[in-house]
Amino acid sequence: MGWYEDALYVREQSMKNNEFFGNSLPLIASENILSPLCKEMLLTDFHGRYAEGTPGNRYYEGCEFFDNVELKAMELAKKLFKCSYADVRPTAGTTANMAVLKALIKPGETATVLDTADGAHISFGKWGAAGLRGVNLVHYPFNDEEMNIDIDGAAKLIREIKPKLALFGQSVFLVPTPLEELAEVAHEVDAYVVYDAAHVLGLIAAGYFQDPLREGADVMTGSTHKTLPGPQGGMIVSDHKGETDEDKKFLRKLNFGVFPGVTSSYHLHHVAAKAIAFAEHLEFGRDYAKQTIKNAQKLGEVLYEKGFEVFGEKFGFTKSHQLLVRIGEGKGKEASKMLYEAGIVTNMNMVPGDENPLNPSGLRLGSQELTRIGMKEDEMEKVADFIKRVIIDKEPTEKIRKEVADFRRNYQNVHYCFHEGFKGYEYHKLV
Ligand SMILES: Cc1ncc(COP(=O)(O)O)c(C=O)c1O
Repeated sequence: MGWYEDALYVREQSMKNNEFFGNSLPLIASENILSPLCKEMLLTDFHGRYAEGTPGNRYYEGCEFFDNVELKAMELAKKLFKCSYADVRPTAGTTANMAVLKALIKPGETATVLDTADGAHISFGKWGAAGLRGVNLVHYPFNDEEMNIDIDGAAKLIREIKPKLALFGQSVFLVPTPLEELAEVAHEVDAYVVYDAAHVLGLIAAGYFQDPLREGADVMTGSTHKTLPGPQGGMIVSDHKGETDEDKKFLRKLNFGVFPGVTSSYHLHHVAAKAIAFAEHLEFGRDYAKQTIKNAQKLGEVLYEKGFEVFGEKFGFTKSHQLLVRIGEGKGKEASKMLYEAGIVTNMNMVPGDENPLNPSGLRLGSQELTRIGMKEDEMEKVADFIKRVIIDKEPTEKIRKEVADFRRNYQNVHYCFHEGFKGYEYHKLV
């Protein structure tokens, strides 16, 4: 096989992937699809350029138009999160977290955080960015029934440990963090409060879930491709205004954490797409976030009625885009494989009581992508029925796969964006 065949092979695989996702029900809670305008940005010349530094203060020439784009992205980000500081350069949520850890904590110092087994992301775990920074991690107690941090236990821990940073935010994130209470305690002991909004960034921007910057977070990080449906990337916002010398220093450290801390080129085409995603979210985000949460709640309700053990019955199953479902001891992987064969894309997930992340007992589901392609509560009933027929009734997956593809035919366009009506999974035919 020659190298061109290799190149064509890769292209063919990506086309197959587009086709697969266009015919399936994507329910992975961290994913989404791009609007046509955002997508267009990814094919621009920005892709090949460098812009180290900040607008107007670059190491490279040729940044005139990009400076305008980055300034606009920052302006829109500040509007979206009603804050005075925004950095749109981090190339991922993980990179944003790394930058904040670089800026605000030194190796050997202590941060309090949830355990990854209770929903924290690996970037705040010992095997991820926090470990890489040499941070000493102490875990908050978790209340399995409430699926939330145990407030009294966490407050006591923060008072005892006096951490440098109090870290919050989850990958399994069904209910808002009791941030107001815990941020107050953290500030009492002079800790900075960092809220990782990766999953729920779009919900927060739209005024749902919670408002971390008003509830005491000094810094909020996030991914720009989950419930905020832009290009893959990250961002950092803060409402610190730099009015005192100490506060100026704090913002300078944040800025320095991103560059030269953890970026060099920061994927300029993605910054352009972020700016457009922010504009789209300012225009359509409220409707989108509201429907996303309603859809998750409806899906949870129907799955529960059909016999699934969905977490959070007492709070309506979720206040976000996510659901957590217990399938059975060590049965998460098998369930996600069966669903995949039927064209329903999910991920296995640990549930309270699990100890082995490679053999978990549950599934995590997210409604944000199905909502983006126009599905509402009625469609969630249908989706729940497909899931039940695969997992509980054990109907042949090939049969369901066909029905799923038929059902998907009417939901191809991206919604809640400019130029609605374009197909989300369409391939840009270059050759
Ligand atoms: C809570 C949380 N933080 C950070 C991240 C990392 O984000 P990214 O994939 O953009 O690096 C994730 C990923 O899903 C997450 O769930």
